[in-house]
Amino acid sequence: MTRQLLSTTIDVDELRAMLAERRPVTVLDIRKAEDRAEWAIPGSLHIDAYEALKAGDPDALADAAIPIDAPVVTVCGAGKVSVTAMEQLRDRGYDARSLAGGMKAWSLAWNSAEAPVPGSAATVVQVRRTGKGCLSYLIGNDDEAAVIDAALPAAVYQDLAAQHGWTITRVVETHVPADHLSRSRLLAEQTGATLHLPEQDRVAYSFTPVRDGETLGVGASRITALRTPGHTLESTSYFLDEKALFTGDTLFLASVGRPDLEASPEQARARSRLLHASLTRLTALPPETIILPGHTSEPAPFDHRPITATLGDVISRVGLLGLSEEAFLDAILARIPPTPPNHARIVALNEAGEMPDGDPTDLEAGANRCAVS
Ligand SMILES: [Fe+2]
Repeated sequence: MTRQLLSTTIDVDELRAMLAERRPVTVLDIRKAEDRAEWAIPGSLHIDAYEALKAGDPDALADAAIPIDAPVVTVCGAGKVSVTAMEQLRDRGYDARSLAGGMKAWSLAWNSAEAPVPGSAATVVQVRRTGKGCLSYLIGNDDEAAVIDAALPAAVYQDLAAQHGWTITRVVETHVPADHLSRSRLLAEQTGATLHLPEQDRVAYSFTPVRDGETLGVGASRITALRTPGHTLESTSYFLDEKALFTGDTLFLASVGRPDLEASPEQARARSRLLHASLTRLTALPPETIILPGHTSEPAPFDHRPITATLGDVISRVGLLGLSEEAFLDAILARIPPTPPNHARIVALNEAGEMPDGDPTDLEAGANRCAVS
């Protein structure tokens, strides 16, 4: 009876905390297989019961092998059909709740992992927006910290910084993003930190421009800007203590950034040339350099393991990196993935430095599509 008195829904923050703390829970994804293929909650169990549940089939989950001894959280796209699944499981004796807002709300879920950087005194925390694949970073040394590519509410970074005894003094972007709404401006405002953006004339608000070769201090650490145009014209990578490279959307662990967003076919070709030159510059760095990219193409697990690789490993994985300029252009332009939804609106808001009225996940829902592999 007690169970019936408990809430029948769980919100994203509570579920992400359960997973981060490794509390027992079965996450049951009841969406259609093609929806799950787009993006999913790490470690979730899948039963393609969406149509049966919607049709009111009382046995939609009858064959599901779900452990009875742990709480169950049912998940669908928007948190409606998952309520039916929750009710059916409760009738069978499960301690079930439905994820409020479904996968759309899950877009804002995150977890974190420390990324060791041998040879640097800085501590790097990789902040993974697992609901979307955006990777941001908190770099701390002494009592100061910098945040790179903030993609989550300011409180996430402020809380993490406070846990380490750091004050956020710099907020840094690799480029103007097209897949998510940048939270850098808000974070800089709320912390009083300096907002550093690559030098460009795209954004309509004030910032401190970063030029190629410029160095930003964080405690005793140094972050050097390496201008790496291609994905966008202003794209910039940041080299921490000459040991770790924050590559934004220029270079991922198994792919490279797409050069075509907000570009005509001719501009995409020109940007591909720039990208080839930028990648040539980056791949000349020492092979033991730790690569810390701006996105991942898989939902980041709640495993506290950083998504990272050495430059040498990345070079061996990404076939595009070994090509001549002409072969690179032909290959990358032939492999451009589908254009992400809402990118033009997201870019317009990021250039204006604004958040939309209402729920930002209305615009941001869905997987990121930043990479060409
Ligand atoms: Fe991007």
